[in-house]
Amino acid sequence: MKNKKFFIETYGCQMNFSDSEIVASILEEGGFGSTKDIMDADMIFINTCSIRDNAEQRVRKRLEYMQFLKKKNPGLVIGMLGCMAERLKTQLLEEEQVLDLIAGPDSYRDLPRLMAEVESGRKAVNTLLSIEETYADISPVRYDSNGISAFISIMRGCENYCAYCVVPYVRGQERSRDGISITQEAETLFHRGFREVTLLGQNVNSYQWIQDGTKTAFAGLLEKVAQVNPLLRIRFATSHPKDLSDELLQTMARYKNICKAIHLPVQSGSTSILDHMNRGYTRDQYLERTTAIRSFLPDCAISTDIIAGFCDETEEDHKETLSLMEQVGFDYAYMFRYSERPETLAADRYKDNVPAEIKDRRLREIIDLQQKLSYQSNKKDVGKTVEVLIESFSKRSDEFFSGRNSQNKVVIFPVTSNNPGDYVRVKINRFTSATLIGEVI
Ligand code: 5AD
Ligand code: SF4
Repeated sequence: MKNKKFFIETYGCQMNFSDSEIVASILEEGGFGSTKDIMDADMIFINTCSIRDNAEQRVRKRLEYMQFLKKKNPGLVIGMLGCMAERLKTQLLEEEQVLDLIAGPDSYRDLPRLMAEVESGRKAVNTLLSIEETYADISPVRYDSNGISAFISIMRGCENYCAYCVVPYVRGQERSRDGISITQEAETLFHRGFREVTLLGQNVNSYQWIQDGTKTAFAGLLEKVAQVNPLLRIRFATSHPKDLSDELLQTMARYKNICKAIHLPVQSGSTSILDHMNRGYTRDQYLERTTAIRSFLPDCAISTDIIAGFCDETEEDHKETLSLMEQVGFDYAYMFRYSERPETLAADRYKDNVPAEIKDRRLREIIDLQQKLSYQSNKKDVGKTVEVLIESFSKRSDEFFSGRNSQNKVVIFPVTSNNPGDYVRVKINRFTSATLIGEVI
């Protein structure tokens, strides 16, 4: 099996993309080579997401294509990784004959052994969750990278048990990674030419690392990473409103290289739905946190996640979501229709009782409102001069560079003598729904 080539396909969140880089590193250490061409691969791994039912359906569909590839090349090994592997475990081997290997999010170190098992003709499964695995010592292979921005995973798991969410069941207990290994990873990336890192966790605000009796919380970690180099930009995701501290906002204000963008999922604008969701804050407490963001960081972008049509959501609750969106004026939002997930608190205790057409209509209203808010947010940027980190040529044309400002908005501008990785000052002249367009000054 050694010297054979692997291909990894990733679905879902940033965390999964980061995990795929850990997997690539473990496989390369194990003597396997990577390929960017699926047709050239001897092993294909699909890193999966379970957060909503349609994420799983997409993977099921993809497995039909894998079946086709395997018919052409019977030696091809197909492995499933990540949350869906964890959720369904050996049941998947019965349902999806095409799979040879199943590995959950905490068992990637075991992949070389699992591959050996597959080689000896058996199907291989490891879905054990761990209370301590953080892959701290593994330096991820930047698998699908632009060479400028990278993810650093700082914690794993989640123990918030939001009623709708499958994550605590598929990613296990919350654990924080050794802070020194995080700073070292940021330093290594900087020396290799990277200029932006995103610190990742399900709930980064509850990061906590204790060494020699000294506690480092998230604000402290962020400060250490910000000190690696002023030319290294730092982002982070995801923040939980119940744990977003003033100390963190003050740290963000002190460092220019900590980007002024906070992703703060609200999920609903109604206190009774928030309580039903087990989110741990009220509408007013959420609004108090966004007011604190605006007062410490006047130019900070705020983005969010919203779920439409959670169990027992009334028209009144839905209107409260719309009014909260207006009140905060989110710059950007990820918006979802509630999807019941097996084994969650909501699936066990509540009825998924908002009819599909009402969920869809409410989601549509939320999306329409957010379009208006994003438009207003972009419009405010016209005439401003912003600092942009150049990431690459624009997808549409080699005559334009594409980068992002501190607020995480994509900015497009005509190519100059600069290179990706450089910072430039760009005057914004106009915008489309998804990008700001300007020129270097
Ligand atoms: N249905 C719909 N959306 C969900 N999310 C999590 N679980 C569900 C679900 N069962 C959304 C939340 C979360 C984001 C990552 O996905 O908004 O913040
Ligand atoms: Fe899921 Fe809530 Fe944990 Fe986010 S904080 S992963 S929504 S349980």
